[in-house]
Amino acid sequence: MNRSLVTGGAGFLGSHLCDRLIERGDDVLCVDNFFTGSKSNVAHLLGHPRFELMRHDVTFPLYVEVDRIFNLACPASPVYYQHDPVQTTKTSVHGAINMLGLAKRVRARILQASTSEVYGDPEVHPQPEGYWGRVNPIGIRSCYDEGKRCAETLFFDYHRQHRLEIKVIRIFNTYGPRMHPNDGRVVSNFIVQALRNQDITIYGDGQQTRSFCYVDDLVEAMLRMMDTPAEFTGPMNVGNPGEFTMIELAEKVIALTGSGSRLVFQPLPSDDPKQRQPDIGLAKKSIDWEPKVALGDGLKATVAYFRKLLAA
Ligand SMILES: NC(=O)c1ccc[n+]([C@@H]2O[C@H](COP(=O)([O-])OP(=O)(O)OC[C@H]3O[C@@H](n4cnc5c(N)ncnc54)[C@H](O)[C@@H]3O)[C@@H](O)[C@H]2O)c1
Repeated sequence: MNRSLVTGGAGFLGSHLCDRLIERGDDVLCVDNFFTGSKSNVAHLLGHPRFELMRHDVTFPLYVEVDRIFNLACPASPVYYQHDPVQTTKTSVHGAINMLGLAKRVRARILQASTSEVYGDPEVHPQPEGYWGRVNPIGIRSCYDEGKRCAETLFFDYHRQHRLEIKVIRIFNTYGPRMHPNDGRVVSNFIVQALRNQDITIYGDGQQTRSFCYVDDLVEAMLRMMDTPAEFTGPMNVGNPGEFTMIELAEKVIALTGSGSRLVFQPLPSDDPKQRQPDIGLAKKSIDWEPKVALGDGLKATVAYFRKLLAA
């Protein structure tokens, strides 16, 4: 039986990962400071004999006995990561140092939830892992982008210097139930606005594209990545290459919710990337993975979640 630690386990992705780990028989320690996550995301697991929830901030060291560490702790949406940018960088950088230190002490295998944001506003499209990115080091998104880039550096240095078994995945936009309703991420924004019959806010002309991966597909990739042979480190892109413009997404959400919302346009925030699409060739080859859930199906499940949440 694996003893798995999930940092950020009470968040959107972390809570789904905890579900899957419990399902497959792991002993799960979920660590979170509840900045953007909540106990309600894991409330259904609280009585489970193989599940434990600990309030802890990863910027402080942690001493526990585990075999595997999934390092997800970090606010993921601009609204929250820009709220206290210094703490965001600390969470990525000190958090990585603390979790890598723990992995080194107990010889655990460790996976980092990195991000497509390490590519910044890319000149290469779609983005393969070999692309080094175009990131503004001093902009308002830098606390997140550079924090995650530095965390990757630390992972690879611990690997080279201390022979740690590391796995780095670069996650592209992922959506699904348990996303925060007002964290400004585009899928949750559009759905909540549509369900409330409010105007749907589109930044810029709405022609910028994103690719959206459903959470179940993402978690499957995370689990497969963790089980790859020791020498396979990544970084590996994980996401759905299907590309949609913001206007297309808004129209799909309006159709699914039956909403009377109108589209309204606002200026593009600074440093907002125009285009983002993963090249998932490496994931296909290395973990035999590609996303299975179509955008329409994933949105349906997500709309159902938000409908219930807003009605409560
Ligand atoms: N969802 C996406 O589209 C996406 C894309 C790229 C990368 N990621 C990465 O995946 C991870 C999970 O993202 P998510 O979408 O579930 O976001 P989320 O905000 O729902 O989850 C992050 C969790 O980390 C916790 N946390 C934050 N700072 C902490 C700290 N200092 N100590 C302990 N816990 C802390 C939060 O309370 C929350 O539960 C993040 O590292 C994020 O950068 C997510």
